Amino acid sequence: MKQDQNYLWWQSGIIYQVYPRSFQDSDGDGVGDLCGIISRLDYLKWLGITAVWVSPIYPSPMADFGYDISDYCGIHPLFGTMDDFDKLLKEVHKRDMKLILDLVPNHTSHKHAWFEESRSSKDSPKRDWYIWQDAQEDGSEPNNWLSVFGGSAWEWDKQTEQYYYHAFLKEQPDLNWRNPEVQQAMFDVMRFWLDKGVDGFRVDVMWHMIKDEKLRDNPANPDYKAHQATYEQLIPAYSTDQPEIHNIVAKMREVTDAYEERVLIGEIYLPVHRLVTYYGQNNNGAHLPFNFTLITLDWDARSISSHVDEYEGALPEGGWPNWVIGNHDQPRITSRIGREQAKVAAMLLLTLRGTPTLYYGDELGMRDVPIPADRIQDPQGLNMPDKDLSRDPARTPMQWSEKDYAGFTTTEPWLPLPNNYQRVNVEVQKEDQYSMLSFYRRLIKLRQQEPALHVGDYQPVITSGPLVAYTREKDGKKFMVVLNLSHKPCTLKEEHQHYTGKVVLATDPEREGEAVKGSFNLYGDEGILVELAKSMAY
Ligand code: NOJ
Repeated sequence: MKQDQNYLWWQSGIIYQVYPRSFQDSDGDGVGDLCGIISRLDYLKWLGITAVWVSPIYPSPMADFGYDISDYCGIHPLFGTMDDFDKLLKEVHKRDMKLILDLVPNHTSHKHAWFEESRSSKDSPKRDWYIWQDAQEDGSEPNNWLSVFGGSAWEWDKQTEQYYYHAFLKEQPDLNWRNPEVQQAMFDVMRFWLDKGVDGFRVDVMWHMIKDEKLRDNPANPDYKAHQATYEQLIPAYSTDQPEIHNIVAKMREVTDAYEERVLIGEIYLPVHRLVTYYGQNNNGAHLPFNFTLITLDWDARSISSHVDEYEGALPEGGWPNWVIGNHDQPRITSRIGREQAKVAAMLLLTLRGTPTLYYGDELGMRDVPIPADRIQDPQGLNMPDKDLSRDPARTPMQWSEKDYAGFTTTEPWLPLPNNYQRVNVEVQKEDQYSMLSFYRRLIKLRQQEPALHVGDYQPVITSGPLVAYTREKDGKKFMVVLNLSHKPCTLKEEHQHYTGKVVLATDPEREGEAVKGSFNLYGDEGILVELAKSMAY
């Protein structure tokens, strides 16, 4: 596929997230692994993916399925060996794709040698690598901070009689990023992988990395609702998004920039005006602070349209946009907005201005899979059983074929498959021109062929009701995207401009080739991509 040479790969390309436990098992233990990923790279190439982000593959006690790392420079035997990793990197590059690793700098596993040393004594040289605090006079926690996974964020250490802070599980103690030794140690980890040739990092919970120096209490959240996670009871004003974080991110960027064409992506759940600060002063921060607004917003045309415009307007000069509709922490898009809207969502993700990140299986329309109570694995689900917060339903095995266990493994997989996998899988959908997979592939192909779509300018088209519409343009070639976010038919009224062109891609392919002139109708759940006549380009 021809891509515009004036842009970097992480600007013009498409990122695909692989959750390694669930992508492909090669050794029959029911859990995915590196050799499994290698065996599926041709599929990703066929789909048109240009960069693969792999969630953590490092040694870990798996309290949080790899986000609790006990050795940053190794490979968990469950996933394979360092040789397998080297082969993966080579095979990805051989196919002219990029490999992005997950970096989890905010916390380690409690089994990491750094923490074991730190907790061994108050005088340990690594004591200050983590956040240790005395109890208050009455023995209670140093402040009111809560853990994202439920309960207090402070854990009492009997042996040394102090509390340590953990934003997530108690098995995930937070590192003290104010300590320069911690910074250097993590920068060395980055260099270890960059030296090997990885193309960048997705940095876990970037906005959590520095906490208020005075550890002040977080204020109560007046909007808290009982169904929400207990963490939401407070506004994390002092435990996240502190001003000093930008200095740390700039240093990580410096490490990254010492290598050619690598990318730094930040996982950040914040409102747009805070999110964009992570691009840094003069863009010296993250290249791509992940933009999750399409996940967190209601699926409503008016709020989505205005948010796209707000985001476009808030981006700093030179800041490159990006969009995400799913990941391993969120319900799948198909389950959130319904099957009928899933193609519309794909069209939005792949035609907005900015780098799209796809979550494995969304290209098949995979749904959240109900998990029987005795098979729930996710600590977030297990710790708050009454809140329905388990992330397992969105982490089930990739559905490759009609074969036993969907071709993912040869034994009972770590999470169950849905009962429709014999119909919803790669092999079946490849053969069906109306399938979600065929739609994704055609959309990706068109996007990557047309500079207007992968790097072109964005302009909103004024609409009302359930329609979202905008144009993309580059070098005199212009497209209009019109999406109906409702199930009912709807008309794009010709209010401001007389649109003339031809439908080049549609959620229902029957519509392709149709001429568009002025106002036109859309079916419910329909999305169309119109190539506008030359005279329509500015
Ligand atoms: C964000 C990750 O995406 C999530 O899966 C994990 O549980 C937390 N960070 C803690 O590392």
